[in-house]
Amino acid sequence: MSKKPYYITTPIYYPSGNPHIGHCYTTVACDSIARYRRMQGYDVMFLTGTDEHGQKIEQKAAEKGVTPKQYVDEIVEIFKNLWSYMNISYDRYIRTTDDYHVKTVQTIFKALYDKGYIYKGEYKGKYCTPCESFWTESQLDENGKCPECHRDVVEAKEEAYFFKMSPFADRIEKLLTETDYLQPKTRAVELVNNFIKPGLEDLCVSRTSFKWGIPVTFDDKHVVYVWIDALSNYISALGYENEQYNDFEKFWPADVHMVAKDIMRFHAIIWPAMLMALELPLPKHLAVHGWITFNGQKMSKSLGNVVDPLVLGERYGADSIRYHILREMALGADSSFSNEIMINRINSDLANDLGNLVSRTVAMVVKYFDGTLPAEKQSDPMDEELINMAKALRGIVDECIDNTTLNIALAEIFKVISRANKYIDETAPWVLAKDGANKPRLAAVLYNLLEAIRISTSLLSAFMPSTMPKVWEQIGATADDVSYENAATFGVLPQNITVHKGDIIFPRIDVDKEIEELNALITAQAEKAKAEQDKDGANLEPLADIIGIDDFFKADLRIAEVKSCEKIPKAKKLLKLIVNDGFGERQVVSGIAKWYAPEDLIGKKIILVANLSPAKLCGVESNGMIVAASVGEDARVIFVDKDIPNGSRLS
Ligand code: MSP
Repeated sequence: MSKKPYYITTPIYYPSGNPHIGHCYTTVACDSIARYRRMQGYDVMFLTGTDEHGQKIEQKAAEKGVTPKQYVDEIVEIFKNLWSYMNISYDRYIRTTDDYHVKTVQTIFKALYDKGYIYKGEYKGKYCTPCESFWTESQLDENGKCPECHRDVVEAKEEAYFFKMSPFADRIEKLLTETDYLQPKTRAVELVNNFIKPGLEDLCVSRTSFKWGIPVTFDDKHVVYVWIDALSNYISALGYENEQYNDFEKFWPADVHMVAKDIMRFHAIIWPAMLMALELPLPKHLAVHGWITFNGQKMSKSLGNVVDPLVLGERYGADSIRYHILREMALGADSSFSNEIMINRINSDLANDLGNLVSRTVAMVVKYFDGTLPAEKQSDPMDEELINMAKALRGIVDECIDNTTLNIALAEIFKVISRANKYIDETAPWVLAKDGANKPRLAAVLYNLLEAIRISTSLLSAFMPSTMPKVWEQIGATADDVSYENAATFGVLPQNITVHKGDIIFPRIDVDKEIEELNALITAQAEKAKAEQDKDGANLEPLADIIGIDDFFKADLRIAEVKSCEKIPKAKKLLKLIVNDGFGERQVVSGIAKWYAPEDLIGKKIILVANLSPAKLCGVESNGMIVAASVGEDARVIFVDKDIPNGSRLS
């Protein structure tokens, strides 16, 4: 019987800098699902890759004095090395610079044009001449200037092609609200209210202001702009409209596209619209997760808060890192990364709970039975709870895989591991061992422990593929014993099983020493990133003219507390905040949505420029300004101590 196909994808990553632990989350999550599906007997296609075109890459390459292709080639190697180090079992790696992908994108673009969904128009926006970049109103900085260099922008127009979105609005709304396409579905409301209800805007899909992109075949001064190029990867990689592969019939529609929240809109609205226009079936699920944050902010190279997965992996092993990031990220929320939490989790879950369970059990079989259990066993009703939990585990993990709730899958597996540890305390094998008459009972206890280990680690192997085989070697399990088929049955290991004592699988980490060393590494890394930024001077604004103290006091800077905060539909960069400035509440609009989610700010105390004349940003009134430090492309809000009373004046 032929196996059922299963197609899972990560986003394709921009090779504009080295990958960090934030990039690892989706890839490790998809890898774990892909491995689990393979165990279940599916014929899996797991796709990942890189999104290599665009102005940013063109600029970075120019800065380095290399061609864009040379620039991306180097970074793609770094991505691939990391994936190999993290044991990512992708079946296909797509690069948008691959010829076959270029052909597919050109064919799709032309097909959409021929069907009347793509039309030529005029892209109007704010243009920054020094940066040669167009910006939308909502992307501008708080002063209405270029978000990159903070200089003046001018109104400008550029001929461009647009993709008509409105014909698909109703179908997309139904897809999001009436089907289980979007996981978690709670995000559908935000998409419908922010993008569909106000009227879907046509999407600009070509540019003439830069060259590093796929040329539009029938108008070659245009290159295809970002999303048609990027999203098409999911089908070009299967051979849609190209001769490179021939798997489209077999694997399309995809079972799961997994993405983080910042690119949800493109996958929830634009991608379905493109597929509808091409009359192709829609993917079955879009699984959306939050960000891995560091000190409350999304990781980013220019913030110097990037955590290097290779550095951590070398210290603690790739599986420990995989376990930690998967265990920490709850569906629908961000997960805050901290070295301390990671090390404590490795110590408690992996070294103590799992590692100890394996080493204690194996050691007892060696000590009391010379490594081989006798066939004669004596069961007891007190065994039932552990046996039933272990037998039910596969069904629970199956459901978590279906719902992409991988943190829950791991929590459930570790419940069985903890239950097994408790069972050791309850049965006290060292007491049983004192009396030869108890040998059959002692053998049954140790056998049950080996079985609980076998079942939990066979399911865990999808998440931690390199260490589980070491456990199996120690408990004497064969490949067949640890198959998915056998994971719901108790009593699979031979009754006279022989174990093999081995090395400690997860050594305990000295928390204080490690934290000190890691903090030193991070500080060195942040200093390096800052030095790189400062080096080119362009990122630092020149010092302003000298002013007197009276001039300074013209600005009334007050401590205020953020009471509520929300995104502004149609203004991607802006957040609307209600703050208490000690005198009462007022509304402020701030261009920080790129770096902060509303929940990152609520309850925090900030510095408010309290006497700015009111202004309207994208039609929303703002009474004051939140003080933030800008660092190159990034901005960081200045948070202050919670104890400082609202309304205190900075002097
Ligand atoms: N190239 C586009 C995707 C096109 S898919 C057709 C892109 N690339 S990206 O490299 O910027 O980001 C790729 C993915 O990594 C996105 O889902 C992004 O949200 C995710 N992450 C980047 N940093 C992250 C964290 N700190 N935490 C979790 N995911 C993060 O967008």
